[in-house]
Amino acid sequence: MISVEDVGRTYLMGPSRVEALRGVTFSLAPGDFLAICGPSGSGKSTLMNILGCLDRPTTGRYVLEGVEVDSLDDDALATLRNGRIGFVFQTFNLLPRMTALRNVELPMIYGGLPREDRRRRALEALAAVGLEGRITHCPSELSGGEQQRVAVARALVNRPAIILADEPTGNLDSRAGQDIVAVFHRLVDSGVTLIMVTHNSRLAEQAHRVIHLEDGRMVSDSAPHPRPLPPSGGEGK
Ligand SMILES: Nc1ncnc2c1ncn2[C@@H]1O[C@H](COP(=O)(O)OP(=O)(O)OP(=O)(O)O)[C@@H](O)[C@H]1O
Ligand SMILES: [Mg+2]
Repeated sequence: MISVEDVGRTYLMGPSRVEALRGVTFSLAPGDFLAICGPSGSGKSTLMNILGCLDRPTTGRYVLEGVEVDSLDDDALATLRNGRIGFVFQTFNLLPRMTALRNVELPMIYGGLPREDRRRRALEALAAVGLEGRITHCPSELSGGEQQRVAVARALVNRPAIILADEPTGNLDSRAGQDIVAVFHRLVDSGVTLIMVTHNSRLAEQAHRVIHLEDGRMVSDSAPHPRPLPPSGGEGK
């Protein structure tokens, strides 16, 4: 469902060039959980921006659910992004004066769903992250881990195929970070593809697969916690 083929991204800064990605290749199936690790400046966020259709590769191909992303104009790209991809950020990015429920309803405003459907879906998403008891709290009335779970619910509510999380546990203590990864595991079990950038190797090891980037290149690709084979006896990877 995701195919990244020899993707490169060069930033032109006046006379100088920054080769942020230099030929990255991998593919993922629905329900895969990928962690991306690597030192600062190795190209992790650059790759996430491309995967999230916020940016385009300079070289190579990116195919998302059978769609060659490069062939889309900006409007089509935005539609694909809004419909198929959910984002989780290190800094939560919640609106401070809105309740958890309103924050989670927000991405549905433009989808044309009736108000009561938006409410029902937001409540379901908050329940899915274990926050049914906090729906009327504003961000300042929630712990960091709870705020991040609201952000995960917000990412879920348009039923994305993929969730992209760039350092989602970077501002959390290890317990709250672990809770977020547990929520991610439940999502991947339901078929969502999850891609998480992290500096925390203990959290990365819980993904099905870990890719290390260094200087824009993939230097390792391992499966510390391989995805279980489907009960039908598929061949797996
Ligand atoms: N918009 C941009 N214009 C020019 N150069 C950029 C731009 N964004 C990133 N870069 C450069 O590309 C390289 C990769 O940056 P990127 O943000 O992908 O790193 P990262 O792996 O996410 O690092 P960190 O762990 O610090 O978040 C860096 O050298 C950075 O300076
Ligand atoms: Mg980054």
